[in-house]
Amino acid sequence: MAAYSELSKEELSELRAELEKQFTEEKAKGLSLDMSRGKPSAEQLNLSMEMMDVLKSDSDLICEEGVDCRNYGVLDGIREAKQLLADMMEVPKDNIVIFGNSSLNVMFDTISRCMTHGVLGSTPWCKLDKVKFLCPVPGYDRHFAITEYFGIEMVNVPMTHTGPDMDIVEQLVSSDPSIKGIWCVPKYSNPQGYTYSNETVRRFANLKPAAKDFRIFWDNAYAVHHLYEEEERQESIPDILSECEKAGNPDMVYEFASTSKISFSGAGVAAIATSRGNLECIKKTLTIQTIGYDKINQLRHVRYFKDFEGIKEHMHIDAAAALNPLDLTVTAIKPLLNYDTKVQEGYKVETTVTADRATHSPKASGEIVSNLYRPLTLKIKSMTRPNVNIGDKVVAVNPVIRLWGPYMTYVSITCDDVVVATTTGKDKA
Ligand SMILES: Cc1ncc(COP(=O)(O)O)c(C=O)c1O
Repeated sequence: MAAYSELSKEELSELRAELEKQFTEEKAKGLSLDMSRGKPSAEQLNLSMEMMDVLKSDSDLICEEGVDCRNYGVLDGIREAKQLLADMMEVPKDNIVIFGNSSLNVMFDTISRCMTHGVLGSTPWCKLDKVKFLCPVPGYDRHFAITEYFGIEMVNVPMTHTGPDMDIVEQLVSSDPSIKGIWCVPKYSNPQGYTYSNETVRRFANLKPAAKDFRIFWDNAYAVHHLYEEEERQESIPDILSECEKAGNPDMVYEFASTSKISFSGAGVAAIATSRGNLECIKKTLTIQTIGYDKINQLRHVRYFKDFEGIKEHMHIDAAAALNPLDLTVTAIKPLLNYDTKVQEGYKVETTVTADRATHSPKASGEIVSNLYRPLTLKIKSMTRPNVNIGDKVVAVNPVIRLWGPYMTYVSITCDDVVVATTTGKDKA
């Protein structure tokens, strides 16, 4: 389709009429859809509910510094929360400041501070004729909303499978001093889910910006959101802070993260990680902005997760727990063939969900969703035929769930064996 700017007035009017017609037709369907992206379901939020029980009226609320978390004090986050988030972001604890519940809010504040007070002594951006940001597209709409809000001109950079097109980034950043920043989501980037390659990260760290106050806005929102259980299939990226330091650009990056997509999206803990120099500058504003963020929530997160291992554990899909509320009835038993060679490498037991006792939250329309009658295939990578028959209610032994497909919406379950369920119905759940 031609760009709007290339269309004549008549073509634009025709297109507008056609789109308005389509819009009216869609409106007439009376749909009530919640189109918000990245909003966890109630089921997902329920996975963290035990966090509500770790602090009670008789809990010890003194943090490691010896400060009472109910009271004022500790501007930049309690020590144990800094450690937890630093480990998650793979940066030293001394390079981190803990904020409130939202990393987006920290990004907004960071740009706002650059606008009004500049970066490490440079001219505040609001006093410059032109400020530009590089925006890898497609990207996260709320990043773009922040830059748009501050009147920053956005320059599109195409995304590739390995991150933003670095030839373009390098060329623009090194030649145009009005380019002051770039938005980056380095891991499982929205919306395609791409992760930056090691080379992309290193090329970022080695940028030679024309503007000395150029900053990389590294939004590591999905640092621990792996799709696979096996570590070798999990994406990892070099630590941008130390890469920048190695490249002689220690102050060039602000890294952001939060537990929004780990614990509670409206009540998580957010942080920034950056050089000591940048942190000092940030803290000067912070002392004016607040007397301190919610230390009780920080403590609650630390007491619940305990450490980074706890976060990793929490992020695993507990396949056994997910399958437990389902009765699976065998519909077929077939050889499992290797996709490429077509050689048999095990068996697949095709089943149908004949009972779903999980609690599903209703859709906005009020409709209750359920997995009842959904087909589920259990794959066994062993040449021993499972001892089950069509019509048996079965359970998977040591199941591992993987999500796959362009939108990660397909489920693949492998297991050691499939056996007849000894308990079904209520006593199984
Ligand atoms: C890339 C990215 N960054 C930040 C956020 C928002 O995070 P927070 O809830 O910590 O503000 C989201 C939410 O969807 C996101 O996708």
